[in-house]
Amino acid sequence: MIQIAVLGYGTVGSGVVEVIEANKADINKKAGEELNVKYILDLRDFPGDPYEDKVVHDYNMILNDPEVSIICETMGGNEPAYTFSKNALLAGKSVCTSNKELVANHGPELIRLARENHCNYLFEASVGGGIPIIRPLNYSLTAEKLDAITGILNGTTNYILTKMDENGADFADVLKEAQEKGYAEKNPEADVEGYDACRKIAILSSLMKGKNVNYEEIYTEGITKITAEDFTYAKKINRSVKLLAMSKDAEDGFFAMVAPFMISRDHPLHSVSDVFNAVYVHGNMLGDSMYYGRGAGKLPTASAVVSDVVDCARHPGKTIMCFWDDEKVALTDIADLKRRFFVRMSAAQKEQAVSAFDTYEEVDAGISSEFAFITGVMSEKEFDEKVAAVGGAINRIRLED
Ligand code: HSE
Repeated sequence: MIQIAVLGYGTVGSGVVEVIEANKADINKKAGEELNVKYILDLRDFPGDPYEDKVVHDYNMILNDPEVSIICETMGGNEPAYTFSKNALLAGKSVCTSNKELVANHGPELIRLARENHCNYLFEASVGGGIPIIRPLNYSLTAEKLDAITGILNGTTNYILTKMDENGADFADVLKEAQEKGYAEKNPEADVEGYDACRKIAILSSLMKGKNVNYEEIYTEGITKITAEDFTYAKKINRSVKLLAMSKDAEDGFFAMVAPFMISRDHPLHSVSDVFNAVYVHGNMLGDSMYYGRGAGKLPTASAVVSDVVDCARHPGKTIMCFWDDEKVALTDIADLKRRFFVRMSAAQKEQAVSAFDTYEEVDAGISSEFAFITGVMSEKEFDEKVAAVGGAINRIRLED
């Protein structure tokens, strides 16, 4: 029997226990041995819960129990999750986590510790919730030289943008409704400012490169400045607005960014709506492949954690290879990146704007007080200089084709 401990009995942690119980026969068969949750670590007690007798408050009980070989870290945040994970790996216990913050911050170190101690640090649930994306990058696409990853990696913002598109509503109103329905956190900053997607693309980019992409160096812009009018214009040009997290390995360098983009209705990520996530990966032999599903939620995320547990159970005493070294990836300054931009200015700026942006395509959505247009291809730097020269813009959104 393989003894497991679950750290944190919140949404994902309780989901892990539920998944192991609900699919017990199938999971045990696939693991090759029976899995048993021996401990649940939490600060709280859970009187009346079917697993209340497994709840402990002292991590050392788990760490010092030689029977426990796999730990599910579903606490979130950096501490104490970092110390707990590190000590578990040093003791030769595998760790399966949903904690993207910890993976983005300490992934290479924890992966190295797992290797040195003949166990595993697995993190399928840290990106895309229940969507298998870490395992495809680590195993299935190993014959590829991956050169681009583009994803919708945050369910909360995708839900908000979908509702803004469908209902013509403003950001603040949809956020309020999403909070009332429990889709968005009371403090939505990490989601709406793009920080959550930033950590997730840092993890995927690191696996793409096999080296460390520091999330703090990734240009990140959230969706708080997107308005109902932006969607009115987007519809006019058969586009929608999506928060994309992307990284590209090109001849002129490696870049990563998170920002709202206007994408056409033909783009494969356009149909990814509501809380769904998708990751679009380009490899030099395979071409495009896409991974789609529920990017958040108790059971989808827990299912991914348990899939890692099964992987650990199948490889006792062995480390499943994961290439993510400490060596840092140098990121290209996005100022040099070239693309087209959608811009809204006041009608009074039209003459100046037309002479500054000699190639442009006007977008008329019937808003008479404004002059809106799509620029030709230019660098971010050149674009910013031109906008500054004509006195600024009401809003601007990058185009992705
Ligand atoms: N807040 C995240 C989201 C949860 O909305 O996608 C999953 O990481």
